[in-house]
Amino acid sequence: MADPQVVMMLVARLLMWMVATVYFFLESLVLCLIPRSYRRKDIKGNVVLVTGGGSGIGRLMCLKLAARGAVVVTWDVSEAGNEETVRQVQAAGGQCHGYVVDLCDRQAVYAAATRLKQEVGHVDILVNNAGVVTGKNIMESPDDSIQRTFDVNAICHFWTTKAFLGHMLAQNKGHIVTIASMAGKMACSGLVDYCASKYAAVGFHETLQAELKANGKDGVKTTCVCPVVISTGMFQGAESKYFPTLVPDFVAGEVVDAILMNTSTLYLPNYMWLMPLQIMMFPQKSMDMLGEILEMKELMKNFVGRRKTE
Ligand SMILES: NC(=O)c1ccc[n+]([C@@H]2O[C@H](COP(=O)([O-])OP(=O)(O)OC[C@H]3O[C@@H](n4cnc5c(N)ncnc54)[C@H](O)[C@@H]3O)[C@@H](O)[C@H]2O)c1
Repeated sequence: MADPQVVMMLVARLLMWMVATVYFFLESLVLCLIPRSYRRKDIKGNVVLVTGGGSGIGRLMCLKLAARGAVVVTWDVSEAGNEETVRQVQAAGGQCHGYVVDLCDRQAVYAAATRLKQEVGHVDILVNNAGVVTGKNIMESPDDSIQRTFDVNAICHFWTTKAFLGHMLAQNKGHIVTIASMAGKMACSGLVDYCASKYAAVGFHETLQAELKANGKDGVKTTCVCPVVISTGMFQGAESKYFPTLVPDFVAGEVVDAILMNTSTLYLPNYMWLMPLQIMMFPQKSMDMLGEILEMKELMKNFVGRRKTE
């Protein structure tokens, strides 16, 4: 039987936690009322690395971060994509460097990190944004595509983070951003590899956050982003009757604001935070029924994706 003194201590601490939780709720409420312009941190002169910055929301984030005075770096497997991002950022008066990196290649990631540190400097903010999707049922998904999905959407986060976190830890200052997806919070048929890789990305963010706190490194911030479908072309053809398709510029703006305000998790649209809560609280059969009502299996019916259209 547990020591009564230990139990009493636990009860007292749980009571304190409940009081603190009420305070934290009130704090978030008050923060919502404060205009964002007062809550944004200054990133002027910070080196920000955006993976997959050669297209979609990655490119738009590069533009928005550079507009705030950051020295932006894009890592992309597409040389043409990188060049276009660098051109657009420079045309807008910002600083941008592009490196061709295949994030599936661990050694290439470490080599590019060494080059980046020598040529630009230490990374202050790392945005793990690159992503790929197969968009097929599991039995039709080629093994290589499944492997690539995990490498780009989740595994490479370890290599990029390990390459740049050391300097952040030494200073107890920095930011690691994970661009995940609502597919990392709720299941969707036709996306087994993508959902599983995004659940892994969410898990990466949550565990890294816990580890940083446990080691007293709360100056290193973490942000996880979970949007529904965005009209960048990556999910071309996928659509839902009930969830909106987000505009890339809006998403990039919200992500940049989440970084500047040190938001822990950003759901887009905001009300999507209800989904994981329901999944945790409701019986599986109830969630299956909700999935049918929301016609989740229709989402990927007309999917063509980026590779087939471009
Ligand atoms: N588009 C959506 O509907 C949607 C929804 C939720 C989350 N997301 C996530 O947002 C992020 C950005 O998506 P997007 O819509 O801008 O897609 P996108 O296809 O426009 O951009 C992805 C970029 O990643 C790059 N990339 C792919 N594989 C790479 C590799 N091996 N090495 C280096 N770069 C590589 C691509 O070249 C591309 O420039 C992704 O992580 C995606 O999973 C997208």
